[in-house]
Amino acid sequence: MFMISNNWKTEGTILIGLFSNYDKDQITRIKEQFNIDLEYYIRESDVSPSYKHVEKITIPYEKGMKRLYVLGLGTSADMKRDHFRKAVGHAFQVMQKDGTKTPSLWLESFISREGEVDDRAAMIAESMIISTYQLPSFKTDEEEAVTIEKLTVLTDYDEAAILNALEKGHAFADGVNTARYLVHLPANILTSTEMAEFATTMAEDYDFSLDILEKEDMEELGMGALLAVNQGSVEPPKMIVLKYQGLDEWKDVTAFVGKGITYDTGGYSIKTKAGMPGMKGDMGGAAAVLGAMETIGQMKPARNVIAVIPSTDNMISGAAFKPDDVITSMSGKTIEVLNTDAEGRLALADGVTYAQSEGADRVIDVATLTGGVVTALGSWMTGAMTNNRDFYQEVEHTGETFGEPIWLLPYNEDYQAQVRKSSIADLNNSPTRKAHAIMGGAFVGAFVEKVPWVHLDIAGTSIAEASYELGPKGPTGVMAKTLAGYIIQ
Ligand code: BES
Ligand code: MN
Ligand code: ZN
Repeated sequence: MFMISNNWKTEGTILIGLFSNYDKDQITRIKEQFNIDLEYYIRESDVSPSYKHVEKITIPYEKGMKRLYVLGLGTSADMKRDHFRKAVGHAFQVMQKDGTKTPSLWLESFISREGEVDDRAAMIAESMIISTYQLPSFKTDEEEAVTIEKLTVLTDYDEAAILNALEKGHAFADGVNTARYLVHLPANILTSTEMAEFATTMAEDYDFSLDILEKEDMEELGMGALLAVNQGSVEPPKMIVLKYQGLDEWKDVTAFVGKGITYDTGGYSIKTKAGMPGMKGDMGGAAAVLGAMETIGQMKPARNVIAVIPSTDNMISGAAFKPDDVITSMSGKTIEVLNTDAEGRLALADGVTYAQSEGADRVIDVATLTGGVVTALGSWMTGAMTNNRDFYQEVEHTGETFGEPIWLLPYNEDYQAQVRKSSIADLNNSPTRKAHAIMGGAFVGAFVEKVPWVHLDIAGTSIAEASYELGPKGPTGVMAKTLAGYIIQ
């Protein structure tokens, strides 16, 4: 996918970054290479250093023509990491639209400080692969879309270091695209059995240890919460468990628990006609976890990780669970079901308990858990809850670094008390009409036994309503990078 070169005589298309406070030496270098005065183009044409502006110039070169794409990067001083990613992603989208398959990029023109070279190279690779990703389509008459096959990075910097950085960006991007791919698949195709198949292949590829808990295993372990959600389905439930051991011993284990509801009809507390389409994406948390495992499998960090994915669809039938049912979770805690549409927290409860029984020292759960978080934060930030501010800070900081912003919601004893209100059981799964996002998280929190825990509600951030600088309309793959990044850094 990547090549490093300092031979500018490559064919075709080259992308150049232009800061508004550009370095005159770079203008000189372009003059030497292409015999054109870029400052003249800035003065006399539409070439501009203003942020995200892309201008194409075609120049006679050697025996043929060469296309230069000049991407405005604005002022280097106030360049936020995410702004950098978006500008680069946008430029690659423009080049892809023009049919470019094997672009080159002049790395030095994207650097304003020596210390940021590797980081910028990684972000370039990541943004290129994320922004030009195309979702699989089931159209029978669709034309083959242009995909970028190879990026040649023109640079005088150390070849090995740059290649390393590019591969890191590649690994993170693969994680995001894996998550997107899974969310995009409809529920008749991506059943829990298929998701387990996907995880099995991943385990083979990266040498993870794999456990697929079947319905009988769940019955033996007493996973009554996940089993209740599955009760109305003809599809068997799966608890998908992947372990990556990067340390000599199985200690200091981070658990990722991802909501893997392959379809959420709401069950007997059925969703509205308008509220149901899109619910194939209710395994967005599971997808983020599998995406992160993809990145971890490629990067092989010296850390231990367990991924736990409780998976089923939430359906209606004569056998389905109902409001008023009382169920017993793997933890032994009993739950009064007040709303069968609050199914994600039930699946996660057994997932979180199982993760701890397998030695998790800290837990991050990820889920498309509540419409409430969409009301609270929209599609711009992932909502979080925690029982440990230090752990949360690390996760939040990682999110910031990777352009996946996270906002902390409150979690105090008043909220915790709400999920314990039941005249018949230990907990109830849907306390009040108030603070839905927090109630969902608080319910999951009730199953965390004294280990640091962060809850991430991605109901608002997992789907993009329109195409954007870093990808198409549809699944964003959000939190795949943050989870992997927390482990890798
Ligand atoms: N999967 C939904 C949450 C959701 C809503 C995700 C919209 C993506 C977009 C979840 O299972 C759900 O139904 N939550 C309910 C909980 C309520 C019944 C307590 C909700 O948020 O309305
Ligand atoms: Mn639901
Ligand atoms: Zn759901």
